[in-house]
Amino acid sequence: TLYASPPSSSGFLSSNDLPDLEAVVGATPFYAYSREKLTSSARQALAFPNAYGLTVRYAMKALPTRAVLQIFQREGIKIDASSVFEVERAVKAGYKYEDISLSTQELGKEFVGLVEKGVKVNCCSLDQLRKFGAAFKGTSNNKCGIRINPGVGSGGFSKSTTGFSKTNVGGPSSSFGIWVGSVDDGTVEGIVKDYGLEVERIHTHIGSGSDPEIWKQVATKSLSFAETFPTVTSVNLGGGYKVGRNPDEVSTDLQEIGEPVQQAFIDFKEKNGREIKLEIEPGTFLVANAGCVVSKVQDIVKTSDYTFLKLDCGMTDLLRPSLYGAIHPVTVLPGKGGDVGSETEEAVIVGHCCESGDLMTPLPGEPESLGTREVRKAAIGDYCVIDGSGAYCSGMSTKNYNSFPEAGEVLVEEGGKGQLIRKRQELEQIFQNELTID
Ligand code: LLP
Repeated sequence: TLYASPPSSSGFLSSNDLPDLEAVVGATPFYAYSREKLTSSARQALAFPNAYGLTVRYAMKALPTRAVLQIFQREGIKIDASSVFEVERAVKAGYKYEDISLSTQELGKEFVGLVEKGVKVNCCSLDQLRKFGAAFKGTSNNKCGIRINPGVGSGGFSKSTTGFSKTNVGGPSSSFGIWVGSVDDGTVEGIVKDYGLEVERIHTHIGSGSDPEIWKQVATKSLSFAETFPTVTSVNLGGGYKVGRNPDEVSTDLQEIGEPVQQAFIDFKEKNGREIKLEIEPGTFLVANAGCVVSKVQDIVKTSDYTFLKLDCGMTDLLRPSLYGAIHPVTVLPGKGGDVGSETEEAVIVGHCCESGDLMTPLPGEPESLGTREVRKAAIGDYCVIDGSGAYCSGMSTKNYNSFPEAGEVLVEEGGKGQLIRKRQELEQIFQNELTID
């Protein structure tokens, strides 16, 4: 057994809360988020060591639900959007355009109007930089950010073998950001000069850094670009802080990695006489363990080799296990609330999609094996709570595969009381944009 449950990482729900929360949404599956955990992770991020000022931007792609954005806004957290559409979503939640930065792979033409309203664009490629220059040459909106791939980090994407999805996006095998070589050989400076731009912000995001030392390296390297561009006033080190979802996984200690980062900013000031502000941009850190998926066991199938618990959620709601082999804690709880009991069984926990790959409990590193989990001996109608599901679960759901509706979302207050923050999708909404042919 890899991860016996309970205990679970987020563990903010008790079995007695579940029937009431289900009643708030009207059906399982649903996502439940702890307001207290969202608030406390926001406060931890805002305490990141910084010598000359700090802006925390929420990488809202992790969980873009409006109520979650509202909570972060009230805590003083700003936004990093990954598309022009996310910008408008954040504005709908109450953010001002000037509180939003945009680092996107697809700089749609709407960006021009957004910059005029105050959105801070980080140009993520040479072509984006030229586009920005062409739009704003000779205007007062000529101040841009540039996202640089600093060459630090192992690069690319690898599927999880440890429960963490490795999304290291610094290095030669990553397509994200302007390659460091184009800064070193003067290409970026050339474009900046041609269009009369002012580089105000340096942005890097290397993905999950495993070693605390990597952050000092990233900070020093990113600050070196502020030497190339003397107009730079802030350096954004991106997100990528690890969150342990399972009992034997360790989360990044922001104070620990923050101290050497802060020192790099102090060293920069001593050398160059300029105070550079720090920005960080966590997604996972802020929301991962503040959320879970609450589903129900809807069938139990036994074969000669396995007991399968079939849930009423699946890769539609929680793609990380089937996409990355990510490990989430799974807890089976009685359907009517009450005593959990002590009888356990080994089961394969599967989702509701017609796909043999819709596994909720894959075995790390052994894709050919189904993977079992020791859980409370289940009956049909029992709840199954999948923890560590705040980040990239609702936000990355595959929506209507098999025409399952999008699950509802509920915000849980201390004491277990729930508030509906997203309704479960109605059947009609699933196909409302489709047209019939003549
Ligand atoms: N900033 C930028 C520019 C990013 O691309 C990302 C994430 C972040 C910040 C936030 O990174 P975080 O703190 O969440 O690691 N779907 C994957 C993670 C993809 C991350 C994409 N970029 C997962 O479920 O683990």
